[in-house]
Amino acid sequence: MDEKIEALRERRERALLGGGEERIESQHEKGKMTARERIDYFLDDGTFEEFDQLRTHDCHNFDMEETQIPGDGVVTGYGDVEGRTVFVFAHDFTVFGGSLGEVFAEKVCKVMDRAMEVGAPIIGLNDSAGARIQEGVDSLAGYADIFHRNQLASGVVPQISAIMGPCAGGAVYSPAITDFIFMVKETSHMFITGPDVIKTVTGEEVGFEELGGAQTHASESGVAHFSVDAEKEALDNIRRLLSYVPQNNVEDPPRVEPWDDPERADQELTEIVPDEPQMPYDITAVIDHVVDTDSFFEVADEFARNIVTGFARLDGHSVGIVGNQPRANAGTLDIDASLKGSRFVRFCDAFNIPIVTFVDVPGFMPGTDQEHGGIIKHGAKLLYAYSEATVPLLTVITRKAYGGAYDVMASKHVGADVNYAWPTAEIAVMGPQGAVNILYDDELDAAEAVEERREELIDEYRDAFANPYTAADQGYVDDVLEPPETRRRLIADLDMLRSKRTDRPSRKHGNIPL
Ligand code: COA
Repeated sequence: MDEKIEALRERRERALLGGGEERIESQHEKGKMTARERIDYFLDDGTFEEFDQLRTHDCHNFDMEETQIPGDGVVTGYGDVEGRTVFVFAHDFTVFGGSLGEVFAEKVCKVMDRAMEVGAPIIGLNDSAGARIQEGVDSLAGYADIFHRNQLASGVVPQISAIMGPCAGGAVYSPAITDFIFMVKETSHMFITGPDVIKTVTGEEVGFEELGGAQTHASESGVAHFSVDAEKEALDNIRRLLSYVPQNNVEDPPRVEPWDDPERADQELTEIVPDEPQMPYDITAVIDHVVDTDSFFEVADEFARNIVTGFARLDGHSVGIVGNQPRANAGTLDIDASLKGSRFVRFCDAFNIPIVTFVDVPGFMPGTDQEHGGIIKHGAKLLYAYSEATVPLLTVITRKAYGGAYDVMASKHVGADVNYAWPTAEIAVMGPQGAVNILYDDELDAAEAVEERREELIDEYRDAFANPYTAADQGYVDDVLEPPETRRRLIADLDMLRSKRTDRPSRKHGNIPL
């Protein structure tokens, strides 16, 4: 028996070494942790239970049978994050460059299947050279098996990807389907075709970082939701993100012990929105003063800055936050903002997280770039996302809510449950200047003191339309609140809405404009 146990221990030790000391050292020299170090750091201490540590590939091409490494380049299993089960797979770059073959893919599929069966999040730590060349089409088949599971798991269990090395070609499509992507600056790259291929095909010269680095994807393409300086920061942030979300789509998000007074009436809220309607301010200041102190966790903060998305807590309960950001492009909705907002709204809706929307939107962004880029269909995504959402929707109009954008931004008419306006709100078809120019075109042409008359008309319009009271009179907003009342009211409403149930007609799925 002792000998047999010794033999098992030897196998295990070999598996723990992955591609060997030299390659582990090389991994460290590149500023990267190994797959096992990442898992150890990420999970609660001592909770990792591994699957398939001893599996090896079954490939006989290119003399591959001579190189068998237990685990086959991916470490898989489950463990805890703050006592809650999560499933993980971590590519081991020290083994065949973390390249994916048939057995590797089967291991990943196994944890995904288990995660789906028990209803727990799936966390993928990606660091791979892509399809294992020696395994040919079996590698491609393996990828597709994973992609298919990513789609099946979408909206059932949260899926989070961290990119901690290369992620190229078809390999990008697994993280792309997941809910959130973290990237590490300098050491991670995502692209469909690399710099060399681009140069050959188009003649364009571009470096790895510019093409598909963390910064590029977090700010330009919007592929990544978080760009961080170091791997540990990514792993810490994934733990934080998980604290806001439920284990699966039939659970409610976890509530933490509240630490902030639900009755807190924050007087500073009366100072944030400027009296001058064209003056920018930071909507995150409004959010921070309303939600539980220090609970706002922004998502995709570098992309489409004209809309803010993130998680927060109200009296310890998780909420999704969406807010127009007057500091960037005056808070207009453009293509990127619509994409960012709609994906976030759909995540929250899939996982039972109520959404609080702060509205200060002058409208959709004008311009041929936007029109030709398809703002009609992209803007429709946000409208669609809010309209299909059945989670509690709470809306606070802080200032402008103009035109179609008023409708889109979680208005009563698209299904919001509770809508408030602040006394600074202006709810109208368009802003006073634009409206006066159209309505009084002829009169202004004929007027002697044009500018004086224009100002008078603007004031008249503002008094008549650019205020919250017409909407309140119609019941389109449920109340006009003094800003410090907002927190208490939202918390009370969330409590009231906790048992909200909505029936929708049965269908295979809707057809969101893509
Ligand atoms: N299949 C099988 N093995 C692969 C591989 C692949 N796709 N890509 C890399 N490897 C192996 C290398 O042979 C090397 O093996 P070794 O340690 O036994 O020498 C190991 O993985 C590390 O690769 P290396 O090229 O030395 O690492 P690097 O950090 O210098 O470069 C990449 C990493 C990903 C940029 C580079 O390996 C690469 O371009 N690979 C091909 C990527 C690709 O085109 N994949 C298929 C498309 S999906």
